[in-house]
Amino acid sequence: YLNYRVPRTRKEIFDTLVKGLQRLEYRGYDSAGVGVDGPRKNDNGDNVNICLIKKRGKVKALDEELYKNDSIDLDIELDTHFGIAHTRWATHGEPNAVNCHPHRSDKNNEFVVIHNGIITNYKELRKYLKSKGYKFESETDTEVIPKLIKYVYDNSENDYVSFSTLVERVIQQLEGAFALVFKSIHFPGEAVATRRGSPLLIGFNTDCVLHSYLLAVNCHYMYLLIHVLYITSMFLTHSYGGKKKHYLCPSCFTPSAIIEHTNKVIYLQDDDITAVAQGKLSLHRMSRCAGEDPNRAIQTLQMELQQIMKGNFKAFMQKEIFEQPESVFNTMRGRICFETNTVVLGGLKDHLKEIRRCRRLILIGCGTSFHAGVATRQILEELTELPVMVELASDFLDRITPVFRDDVCFFISQSGETADTLMTLRYCQGRGALTVGITNTVGSSISRETDCGVHINAGPEIGVASTKAYTSQFVALTMFGLMMSEDRISLQKRRLEIINGLRMLPGLIKEVLTLDDQIKNIASELYQQRSLLVMGRGYNYATCMEGALKIKEITYMHSEGILAGELKHGPLALIDKHMPVIMIIMKDACYTKCHNALQQVTARQGRPIILCCQDDPEITKNAYKTIELPQTVDCLQGVLSVIPLQLMSFHLAVLRGYDVSHQENLFKNVGIF
Ligand code: F6R
Repeated sequence: YLNYRVPRTRKEIFDTLVKGLQRLEYRGYDSAGVGVDGPRKNDNGDNVNICLIKKRGKVKALDEELYKNDSIDLDIELDTHFGIAHTRWATHGEPNAVNCHPHRSDKNNEFVVIHNGIITNYKELRKYLKSKGYKFESETDTEVIPKLIKYVYDNSENDYVSFSTLVERVIQQLEGAFALVFKSIHFPGEAVATRRGSPLLIGFNTDCVLHSYLLAVNCHYMYLLIHVLYITSMFLTHSYGGKKKHYLCPSCFTPSAIIEHTNKVIYLQDDDITAVAQGKLSLHRMSRCAGEDPNRAIQTLQMELQQIMKGNFKAFMQKEIFEQPESVFNTMRGRICFETNTVVLGGLKDHLKEIRRCRRLILIGCGTSFHAGVATRQILEELTELPVMVELASDFLDRITPVFRDDVCFFISQSGETADTLMTLRYCQGRGALTVGITNTVGSSISRETDCGVHINAGPEIGVASTKAYTSQFVALTMFGLMMSEDRISLQKRRLEIINGLRMLPGLIKEVLTLDDQIKNIASELYQQRSLLVMGRGYNYATCMEGALKIKEITYMHSEGILAGELKHGPLALIDKHMPVIMIIMKDACYTKCHNALQQVTARQGRPIILCCQDDPEITKNAYKTIELPQTVDCLQGVLSVIPLQLMSFHLAVLRGYDVSHQENLFKNVGIF
């Protein structure tokens, strides 16, 4: 803080920002931009103009633009250097340089803003600001924000209004979700960041000799990376009242843009306003939250950079598929005692009595996380002897579903930040239900806001398509069932069988992963098809839905998960010798029924590729191809059967020429940064 004016070349600042954006590339985006101080100085020596560079396409294109643009002097030295950067995923307005962030108040770049989220009342604000003479250049919802702050600034009655006060006045007018970082030529060397509904994380690098404030924002994550020498002790003493508290944060967060600079972070909460000025960071609550505790603990991320790098794999998704023996093991680590056959989920044990007395369990999630609920519903019904509902968060809210005080609602979310799931959590909390989080992200909104919960400890999931989080959610929910049934004498045999199954699971997953080459060969036969059906029932219905979701989102092929019991009620019409069908037929209670479905498929000249148990000649003889899996307990079989479909989707995507790390139309919906 004392030396915060250490000159840096613009190149150094750009390089740090661009590198941060590159670390976020895997999440998918369509354009990128940076904003840094310009060279013009005022009488105090502050840099008082802002230079914005924005480009459609990959971060590499932005980087090239920086180097080829003669008007950008990269060697120039800047005293204060507060840079912002952003990758955008278009929601309003097509992907192009104008629509990309940072957005600005006017041609002089008086105020510039980067935003993650969505402003739902932007049309009204835009209309109002237009009526006041503001000219809009983009089609985005975000652009109202820099215009609005300039409007508030120009119309402030007092001579001096602080930057954070201006921001507070602006966000009072905003509806929707946002994480925002502001920069202004009127407040050189200052930045203000705030959030509501979208996540925001601040990283501190106390040892860094580079005294710049670097903010990197991705359309799904927002990072506020602050390099400040000497700031921590002052910050702790002043803003935190000396309450230094380090939370243990398992390696499940993915702050990839900042982890190489620091592992010390704080997670902002809704309506927190943070300001960096003259090397100091301050945090306060919006005035309507006056009286609420503004203390935020500094957390230590236990994650190495190499943990989030791809290693020898072609894509994070592939790496994460192959990590599943370890990730599933980590979900169980320290929670199952194989000697006593007991399961202890520390985050739930104090609530167990209450959960056992509940009216029903409601499992809520979106996409893959919803499928994890479908996959475990049956075993939870059996082990808890309670009614179990599984709900898509968006639909649950649309229906204004009745929720009661004696309901227990589970919120399943890899990121812990998915907006629909988070809103459903708040809805259920408002109706007095006990809320339980099943998340992979320590410090996320869902893990903070639920009454209790389980971290699945799968490690950072960086691939856009969720893979290892699914199998870990599956295992965590099964463990919950085991914990609930510990006292049930009639269930002991079943529990023992499942606990043994869990013990063997990592080894069996490894075995399934050896089928990769075989699956790649099958993919090479299928990759030119337009459509792929995945059929099964019982414990494996969820696998069909999850497999089909992976295929459509990664390969852009049409794919549908079909409940085999529904075949004769419509889907059979699709079956002929041209339609590729994957069937899942495992040796469980649905075996005979699945066999009937197989006969219906072959009777229509269908050529099924069958996922089945090893040594099942009856199936093999009716199959076009088989993928033989080791057998485990019926309720855990889905952990194994989903893996060939994860691999299949990956290979299909590669064969179809897609870059699995950068899918269009896809983004990982998360959270904090
Ligand atoms: C699919 C996928 C999504 C997510 C969904 C919920 O591969 O990743 O369907 O599962 O967006 O995300 P979380 O689990 O973070 O709430």
